[in-house]
Amino acid sequence: MEDNLTEENGKLDFHLLEDNEIYRIRMYGDPVLHERALPIEAITEEDHQISKKMLATMYSNPIGIGLAATQVGILRRLIVIDIDRDDPDNAPIVLINPEILEQEGESIIEEGCLSIPELKAEVKRPEKIIVSARTLDDEEIIIEDESLLARVLQHEIDHLNGILFIDHLSRKKQKRLKAKLRQIRQEHAEIPA
Ligand code: NI
Repeated sequence: MEDNLTEENGKLDFHLLEDNEIYRIRMYGDPVLHERALPIEAITEEDHQISKKMLATMYSNPIGIGLAATQVGILRRLIVIDIDRDDPDNAPIVLINPEILEQEGESIIEEGCLSIPELKAEVKRPEKIIVSARTLDDEEIIIEDESLLARVLQHEIDHLNGILFIDHLSRKKQKRLKAKLRQIRQEHAEIPA
């Protein structure tokens, strides 16, 4: 019975994947998270494979709704997003070289990050954005949004520039999170690369 339930939503089956079918997510403390990813000049079959594996990696985490290539140690400007991951009919978004063209307004939303587990904080960012990117089929796409998608896009594009959501917090707030961040850094430093 339970099997039938999961079959209805292929996205939920990703937790069954073997370790070699998903990437290891780089955790806070890993220097790669502060690197700037390089633009993709020509979309190759490898990018299709990378994005597929990135989606599997994102879905294998029960709360993942966005992932940047930087977070799996690949310094290419590629992000995947699925803000409706529990809806089997909603297709995920894969964007190459995403760039914010315009931004407007302001909103404060609580964010989290797969690279900084169990830490959440309210982050102030522009509310509405216009983003240009290319799809995996090498078509230009313009996304205009002021919902959760706008927020996730900004968070993931930040990753491509080596910026984490905690970098947006005030000094005071960062100080308050210091112990927790040190703990995350130590826990994951023990896992060999
Ligand atoms: Ni993140």
